[in-house]
Amino acid sequence: MRMSHEAKIDLASTGGARGGKLALDIAAQSCSPAAAAAARIIQTHQDRPGALLPMLHAIQDELGHIPEDSIALIAAALQRSRAEVYGVITFYPHFRLQPVQGRHLEICRAEACQARGAQILIDHAQRTLGCGLGQTSADGSITADPVYCLGLCAQGPAVMLDGQPHAHVTPARLDTLLAEDATLASEEVR
Ligand code: FES
Repeated sequence: MRMSHEAKIDLASTGGARGGKLALDIAAQSCSPAAAAAARIIQTHQDRPGALLPMLHAIQDELGHIPEDSIALIAAALQRSRAEVYGVITFYPHFRLQPVQGRHLEICRAEACQARGAQILIDHAQRTLGCGLGQTSADGSITADPVYCLGLCAQGPAVMLDGQPHAHVTPARLDTLLAEDATLASEEVR
């Protein structure tokens, strides 16, 4: 008997630990690659103490975001409510429920970078890209997000561009990074 995707999710959310395990097994064989990947990651992490954050990080690292339909699977695996899982996802600006559009620029807004001129960099980025942090440019080519510490505190302001960290980023250096990245992208297309 074929089971609809909605039924799989419902089983995960209502079946307790056994139902959750069964739903994860079913979702791991799902025809949806994202659901199958999320289920595999959840099963890998679910027995760790404090599993929720490592699980969310692993899902986002692999899929680029946390698919909405993985929330019920996570909730079932950890015996929490969907609202609790959703609350954690939306509490941390790092986690995304939608894939990033275009290139991804993250600018550190944590204290050490703020003390080293992060706000000047943010103002410059907003003027250059035409969008604020947490937004995508009008042409969809780049999404800018705030991030709270990249581990480069002594070398701030720090940014992450398409997953690559950069230190000592001045407005001019940011312009160079964006231009280099655009050149590389067009070379890859050729
Ligand atoms: S405060 Fe910006 S990298 Fe740590």
